[in-house]
Amino acid sequence: MCGIVGYVGPRQAQDVIVEGLRRLEYRGYDSAGVAVVDEAAGLIASDKRAGKLANLEKALGVDGLPAATTGIGHTRWATHGAPNDVNAHPHLGAEARVAVVHNGIIENFAALRTALENEGHRLVSETDTEVAAHLLERAVADGADLTSAMEEVCGRLEGAFTLVAIDSQDPDRVVAARRNSPLVVGMGDGETFLASDVAAFIEHTRDALELGQDQVVTITRDGVEVTTFDGEPSEGLHYVVDWDLSAAEKGGYDWFMRKEIFEQPRAVADSLLGRHTEDGALQLDEVRITEDELRDIDKIIVIACGTSFYAGLVAKYAIEHWTRIPCEVELASEFRYRDPILTRDTLVVAISQSGETADTLMAIRYARSQRAKVLAICNSNGSTIPRESDAVIYTHAGPEIGVASTKGYLTQLVACYLLALYLAQVRGTRFGDEIATIVRELEEMPQHIQHVLDGSDAVYDLARRYVDHRSVLFLGRHAGYPVALEGALKLKELAYIHAEGFAAGELKHGPIALIEEGLPVFCVVPPRGRDQLHAKMLSGIQEVKARGARTLCLAEEDDDAITPYADEIVRLPKVSTLLQPLLAVVPLQLFACELATLLGHDVDQPRNLAKSVTVE
Ligand code: AGP
Repeated sequence: MCGIVGYVGPRQAQDVIVEGLRRLEYRGYDSAGVAVVDEAAGLIASDKRAGKLANLEKALGVDGLPAATTGIGHTRWATHGAPNDVNAHPHLGAEARVAVVHNGIIENFAALRTALENEGHRLVSETDTEVAAHLLERAVADGADLTSAMEEVCGRLEGAFTLVAIDSQDPDRVVAARRNSPLVVGMGDGETFLASDVAAFIEHTRDALELGQDQVVTITRDGVEVTTFDGEPSEGLHYVVDWDLSAAEKGGYDWFMRKEIFEQPRAVADSLLGRHTEDGALQLDEVRITEDELRDIDKIIVIACGTSFYAGLVAKYAIEHWTRIPCEVELASEFRYRDPILTRDTLVVAISQSGETADTLMAIRYARSQRAKVLAICNSNGSTIPRESDAVIYTHAGPEIGVASTKGYLTQLVACYLLALYLAQVRGTRFGDEIATIVRELEEMPQHIQHVLDGSDAVYDLARRYVDHRSVLFLGRHAGYPVALEGALKLKELAYIHAEGFAAGELKHGPIALIEEGLPVFCVVPPRGRDQLHAKMLSGIQEVKARGARTLCLAEEDDDAITPYADEIVRLPKVSTLLQPLLAVVPLQLFACELATLLGHDVDQPRNLAKSVTVE
């Protein structure tokens, strides 16, 4: 998820663009760049720097770029290619005639890049974006105008992308295209804006045009033209923005956390992009551990902290079931002090959203000192933990601003499933058609998650009715047990109340003494496909209900067996047991977010917490 700005109008383009990028910096801060059409020289003038926007502003200095009234800008959240000056956007074509900025993932960029290089093009970055710059420039050099060039090139791209481009030979025009990544137009008086979201231009105009799928938009001072990738006339959705600037940066939500909960369908879809072939075979090219080495792995140890540790607990079920490799899950802060048994055939999987958690970092340093191989699952490109690992699987959740992890957690689950399936594929512990079936189910998850989100009002109502409780328990079995732990953590870190997760089968061995009249108990009910699990969970629900608990059940849509024992039911789409955590955790995220809001807490920055714990 990156921040994009385009401008055409009477003002200095650089100033408008840099100010717009500042409003979008929460969308990514790995690097920033700006490019303008220097009409006097008939050239593109640009500058780009790794790091926060301030680095770019320092490089631009007082004079800045040459005077120009047309330009584009970008603040990056790295997906392909480390966050450095070369990989920063904008990217230029071979003759530096066209400049492009991009948000998203071009899945087929590798093949396109090879074709360009075979034609003699020299690409200098590791990014997928630079390929688009060369393709667009070749099209305009062949006589197409920038709009036609964008239509033609986008027809050849696969994946999710918003592209915005300028042509030094076509001043006073910015052209953009949108597929699966956000893009909105701001229509001012004699000036027009393009941006990833309205925060970039809301101080100049509230007159906006939302663009749809597979559309190209051309903006000039005088207005906007929308076409399809086939060049047919089309139109966007006009609306007037009624948010203030702060709300605009949160996409209209009250909290970044709530916005990030609702971004989860997109985040999961982006984390699956380009990681399997049409027939469901996994292709994790960023796993730099050879297949032979993966076949020699005889133990996996997952290490992480907090929510990431609970993602690791889910991973254990998937890894052991699909690969038959013994898998332990360890708190990073405990791992290196227990004298663990590690060999060169041990794979240590370090899960970290920030990539900077000190406990996890020290644990992987220890693991590598013991000759184990380390694979990082991380959301922050170029951060310390992936940099110090042998291999990495990046989650493509985009920046997670809320301290309480939500989309970071869900995309960690996706990465763990992909890793387990990849190991099963390499080691032959699952047939290709079995793996393809699971991949197809994963591909359906974004729409299932959206379905759960569509029921958010019922969960908010639940939070209002239970707002006065000072203790809540969470029960789960099998892959639902880590979900219960994560649900409890969300409530602890946001509502500051006692919340505890248990394996449902463990309740009768002591914790059931906690049950008293009216105590809310969330129950994560497994799918009925595995009867022994479902029946046992039903027993646990009956046990707590019989002792006066209020049972809040998360269960499949048509599971009527729980109805007699459930005081509240949140329905989930039917999915397989191992993948149900992707859905079951969402109502618990919503519940915790809403309860904390009702209690008047700062949901994005809960007391005593930090987004990344860089001390041991
Ligand atoms: C989760 O909501 C918390 N913010 C915290 O437990 C977090 O998951 C933990 O500190 C690990 O952070 P990491 O994923 O960035 O390593």
